[in-house]
Amino acid sequence: MNEPILVTGGTGTIGRRVVTLLHGAGRDVRVLSRRGGTDAPGIQHVVGDTREGAGLDAAFAGAPTVVHLAGGPKGDDVGARNVAEAAQRAGTSHLLLISVIGAGDVPIGYVRAKGEAERVVRESAVPFTILRAAQLHSLLLPVASKLSSLRIAPRDVRLEPVDGEAVATRLAELALGGPSGRVADLAGPEVLTFADLVAQYNAHHELKRRVMGMPVPGALGRAYREGANLASAPVDRVGATWQQFLAGAASPAAKAAAR
Ligand SMILES: NC(=O)c1ccc[n+]([C@@H]2O[C@H](COP(=O)([O-])OP(=O)(O)OC[C@H]3O[C@@H](n4cnc5c(N)ncnc54)[C@H](OP(=O)(O)O)[C@@H]3O)[C@@H](O)[C@H]2O)c1
Repeated sequence: MNEPILVTGGTGTIGRRVVTLLHGAGRDVRVLSRRGGTDAPGIQHVVGDTREGAGLDAAFAGAPTVVHLAGGPKGDDVGARNVAEAAQRAGTSHLLLISVIGAGDVPIGYVRAKGEAERVVRESAVPFTILRAAQLHSLLLPVASKLSSLRIAPRDVRLEPVDGEAVATRLAELALGGPSGRVADLAGPEVLTFADLVAQYNAHHELKRRVMGMPVPGALGRAYREGANLASAPVDRVGATWQQFLAGAASPAAKAAAR
């Protein structure tokens, strides 16, 4: 039994891949989530809530490295504050936070909260690493499907969709290393407009649909036109393209992995 690495949100889309990689690297892993999970040799699940601050002290005890992935549409700023405070109390020696590209610069509540989460971690006394990642292919797939059926796409919005496996791999590498501050953004290999995403989705499914561009109004539209949601240097562009993902998403194994 080695000292476990704590992964908050280790049952989620990214988290469960990170847990598998860390475990595969010979590390014991403790996973914190609200619903918990089934223990396996070297993988222990604990129940807690980062937003409520519940169960954190017990979860952080004896785990010098914490990978904070727990999150959702709301409250990631509050969750990060609770996590940073628990890390400080526990004497955590490395807190790794996942964030999103454009954190703090796009006027959407979720992205603003990510900016605040970064600030809280940066200003805490805990040695940290922050990785900003682009949107996962698997997150954009249902969006592209919906837009395709509605035959619309937000105009002038560019995205850099990235492979979930590539994000998990980078997080695992960072967790096994030391605190590194803010590291290079992680994005997919291409910058695509929403219209490109939907067009490729339609082509993949042999759908002959005309898609209309929908302007995004106000400050949000301006932020997108200025590329506030796009990676800034230094950036690592890795993994499969959207088209490759779509091709792979057709296989039952890839569908199961994307769930
Ligand atoms: N997916 C993307 O495209 C993307 C891109 C960049 C950054 N990120 C960030 O990466 C992180 C993981 O994303 P994901 O797509 O893997 O999310 P996900 O699939 O929705 O998983 C979220 C995980 O966090 C746990 N969780 C949520 N709220 C919690 C809370 N209050 N307390 C404790 N655990 C909680 C969930 O388990 P329970 O529900 O059981 O608690 C689950 O394990 C998030 O912080 C997200 O903002 C995601």
